[in-house]
Amino acid sequence: MTDNKPFITIAIDGAAASGKSSTSRMIADKLNFMHVDTGAHYRAVTICLLQAGLQPDQTEAIKGFLDTVPLSTEVSGHRALIRINRYLPHETELRSVEVNETVSGFAQLPEVRAFLLDYQRNTIQEAKNYHFNGLIMEGRDIGSVVLPDADHRFFLFADPSTRSKRRQQEGQKDMIEKRDKIDSTRKHAPLKCPEGAIKIDTSERDLEAVVTFITETIGYA
Ligand code: CDP
Repeated sequence: MTDNKPFITIAIDGAAASGKSSTSRMIADKLNFMHVDTGAHYRAVTICLLQAGLQPDQTEAIKGFLDTVPLSTEVSGHRALIRINRYLPHETELRSVEVNETVSGFAQLPEVRAFLLDYQRNTIQEAKNYHFNGLIMEGRDIGSVVLPDADHRFFLFADPSTRSKRRQQEGQKDMIEKRDKIDSTRKHAPLKCPEGAIKIDTSERDLEAVVTFITETIGYA
């Protein structure tokens, strides 16, 4: 099914709990793509900055500090995991209440976004080096800023009550409304549906249906 197809890139954007991560993961597993979760990048930077005792209003110090911080990727199955300052943060650390509370404050800073941009774009080359069939990258600004020339761009959304329910079912304390507000109103790379992206309402469609729709749309079904 995947023989002789060119390497392709897919951008998936959407708000918290819109279904980006489960969709991207399933597609990556099905099609042998590399999955890059850029939310994890912002969460990893947040952990690193909090450990250094920095707060979002200390932009000069943040920039100076980040200039010294190396980033690299560890590939685990189909997932590209970020290593920051030689440290690989665990999923539970990335999704802690403290990180949920503070990540959007750091993610709105141009200093933080600029720090991650080249690293994120370079994951395409890493995916090729590992002989994946393609790359699927999810976040808030992938189709608009990070990979505006992605072969396929999708924007996932769901009504707020569905999204809060999903987070509760995952057992997570997460202030998604607050994060959505900061993410969609910030000056740099706000969360929005990129022009020309295909919108998918995940409120009523289950994961399988969303994955089938995307794989058909990109010509992999
Ligand atoms: O999984 P969930 O949708 O809850 O969030 P996430 O994708 O892990 O992203 C966590 C936070 O990182 C978001 O609320 C944004 O503040 C920030 N983020 C961003 O600014 N740009 C991205 N491309 C991805 C995440």
